[in-house]
Amino acid sequence: MTWQGLIQHYENYLPVTENTPKLTLNEGNTPLLHFPSLSEELGIELYGKIEGANPTGSFKDRGMVMAIAKAKEEGSKSVICASTGNTSAAAAAYAARAGMRAIIVIPKGKVALGKLAQAVIYGAEIIEIDGNFDEALQMVREISETSPVTLVNSVNPYRIEGQKTAAFEICDSLGSAPDILAIPVGNAGNISAYWKGFKEYHEEKQTGLPQIYGFEAEGAAAITKNEPIAQPETVATAIRIGNPASWDLATAARDESNGIITSVRDEEILYAFKHLPKTEGVFAEPGSNASIAGVIQQCKAGNIPQGSKVVAVLTGNGLKDPQTVQENQEIEPVSLPNDAAAIKQYIEELTSH
Ligand code: F0G
Repeated sequence: MTWQGLIQHYENYLPVTENTPKLTLNEGNTPLLHFPSLSEELGIELYGKIEGANPTGSFKDRGMVMAIAKAKEEGSKSVICASTGNTSAAAAAYAARAGMRAIIVIPKGKVALGKLAQAVIYGAEIIEIDGNFDEALQMVREISETSPVTLVNSVNPYRIEGQKTAAFEICDSLGSAPDILAIPVGNAGNISAYWKGFKEYHEEKQTGLPQIYGFEAEGAAAITKNEPIAQPETVATAIRIGNPASWDLATAARDESNGIITSVRDEEILYAFKHLPKTEGVFAEPGSNASIAGVIQQCKAGNIPQGSKVVAVLTGNGLKDPQTVQENQEIEPVSLPNDAAAIKQYIEELTSH
């Protein structure tokens, strides 16, 4: 049967009723890709869960299809969220699909250009504030309590329900849970969703449980440091979050799975951001590469046994953030005359060594 999206495929695992609209943009069913080069380099068996292959280019589509379908089912006409970019892109797309209004509140100047373009083109109402994500989230939480708008940040439990399906897919692809699941941590919804998914699937199908390894950006590492960060900063704007809403669920995932939550420096993130596309042909956004950076870091520190089966979640597509490429990599094409002979000569020199 052809894939028809998460609500259809996983209806027995999701809070779906006969009144839930069968909303879909064909999200989910993303590739689990083996990484042969990095596996050899690190002495492990490494896979990437390519969430950038979702319809709006991030894992947020999994949660958003559920949250918006339920909002529609409940008769809501407008949804609201705070976002570092990907949540707003997903909210805007699914709201458009469902014939609803999306209102998004974003931190001014700190949302990658591709994500902002998505929100614009899908027709969202965009509000930017001179503040960070945590402040924006605080505002929309309060507003949604008294105004006729449904909150679709990951504090909405339907978001977590939709996002847990990625864990199901990993177990189905591998035949069981991996030894370690490495995942970026921002607002901490996704790490919580994966752990819920692994536990539920294990109960149903005895697929086993992974250790959860969560990675925050060092300048926004509230859980790692065990205190909120008032002014979070990182090149990985997706996870530039100083007071994660699902903090307690994330530490529960860490502790119950005998895992860790630690941080990676911006340099480590940028190294992974550039290394992954060159070695494996996979371009993921900076925030996503917190997982790869974390795996490299933990392998070097001897905290991941050789031969371990590790899945790194690559949460968002690299195309969303061309600025970070421009700012961190020289873009200098060789300029040659419009002349076949000159180009041929250049290529022959290139291929001669
Ligand atoms: N990776 C990407 C690409 C993200 O966009 C986010 C979160 C995360 C990882 C972290 O996931 O928040 O569940 O721990 N982005 C949110 C947003 C905050 O607004 O798009 P988390």
